[in-house]
Amino acid sequence: MTAMSNDMRHVTEADRAHIWHHLLQHKALETNDPRIIVKGQGMRVWDQNGTEFLDAVSGGVWTVNVGYGRERIANAVRDQLIELPYFAQSVGSIPAALFSERLLEKMPGMSRVYYANSGSEANEKVFKMVRQMSARLHDGRKWKILYRERDYHGATIGTLAACGQAERAMQYGPYPDGFVSVPHCLEYRAQWDVEDYGRRAADAIEEVILREGPDTVGLLCLEPVTAGGGVIVPPAGYWDRVQEICRKYDILLHIDEVVCGMGRTGEWFGYQNYGIKPDFVTMAKGVASGYAAISCTVTTEAVFEKFKDASDRLSYFRDISTFGGCTAGPAAALENMLIIEEEDLLGNTKAMGARIMANLGALMEKHAIIGDVRGAGLFVGAELVTDRSSKEPVAEADAQRVVAECAKRGVMIGVTNRSLVGFNNTLCFSPALIATADDIDEITEAVDGALTAVFG
Ligand SMILES: Cc1ncc(COP(=O)(O)O)c(C=O)c1O
Repeated sequence: MTAMSNDMRHVTEADRAHIWHHLLQHKALETNDPRIIVKGQGMRVWDQNGTEFLDAVSGGVWTVNVGYGRERIANAVRDQLIELPYFAQSVGSIPAALFSERLLEKMPGMSRVYYANSGSEANEKVFKMVRQMSARLHDGRKWKILYRERDYHGATIGTLAACGQAERAMQYGPYPDGFVSVPHCLEYRAQWDVEDYGRRAADAIEEVILREGPDTVGLLCLEPVTAGGGVIVPPAGYWDRVQEICRKYDILLHIDEVVCGMGRTGEWFGYQNYGIKPDFVTMAKGVASGYAAISCTVTTEAVFEKFKDASDRLSYFRDISTFGGCTAGPAAALENMLIIEEEDLLGNTKAMGARIMANLGALMEKHAIIGDVRGAGLFVGAELVTDRSSKEPVAEADAQRVVAECAKRGVMIGVTNRSLVGFNNTLCFSPALIATADDIDEITEAVDGALTAVFG
């Protein structure tokens, strides 16, 4: 570690004095310096002390899919900003049109893109569309929105109403009506003793629909792989049944691809692993790998057509996102997508995903504290338990000590964080899609050392 320069001391003190960080208990910063990341290149980042880290969480929250230091994205954004930085999306822009065309080529069956600038906002748009369809087309029926335990859809009051993570939603209510939870589908924490677990977990959604009244339910909103709720890949049979249930009761299916979108699972979108046909797909984080803010709410022509009744002056989607008109987002997103294609990062994600799963699987033999390893592509979780037979979760503080020990070894990993009461015990790995075999091995070696340091 090199000594901090005076300039960096100044920055650090300015941060300590003025920044209100996300998801952070600030008491700790009264005695410790805030960490400031000053540079990134490829898979690596450096802090204000010059300490290097291998970033196994793509910017902390599964975002920088193509890695740091991509000059071609920066150049595309720069060129676009000089040409035209902004105009409200009630009119068009060149990168918005061109990116939507490229994006929809990857999403057969989908045909319209609504731009905004965060995952929360993208999801709120869907909720608003569903409520408007309920008001206009269903006489106020079909207004309820189903979400799943352990899933997360954003930080606004509306999306927190659809939050399956109790600790994220606590103390921020009361919430709007009409949001109803369905059971999670994590087989490791099984709620039913059956063979065909995927089908049973999906049947539980039907039970909720029947309880609420099918006529009241307009939307089912699901993550393709639950992210911050513990990296949950739905079991075989789940998605076919989900699709069947949505068709049976005329319920629109919304897949929240804010984390899985743009390659993280080894397909362009997580739902494409399962052969389902959603009515809405939302995405944000990886769309431009964090080089610019962008989110997309994507839907079908059938949904879009419902907002075009010229005889009703309120029939269209009367919504705006000011910064949905920033051209930097789609300009960066276009380059980001080209990089994923040209470098076959989907192929790399599958290969490296298999490697990290295998490495963590091998660590399970050595560390009984690892109860379960699960994931899809470069999106992997390891659930820590004090005892494999009782599956008692480790304390949240201990899981966080593992993260700190990995950082001491030069590797940043993640952990479920103030999300689920008593179950913030899953380590998260989501390196950039450019990760090499050496990077993967470095990550799991750090985990090995960290687990030994914390649990012996
Ligand atoms: C699955 C999912 N949906 C939505 C969001 C919200 O995205 P944003 O923080 O961009 O509003 C997140 C953020 O972590 C997420 O994980």
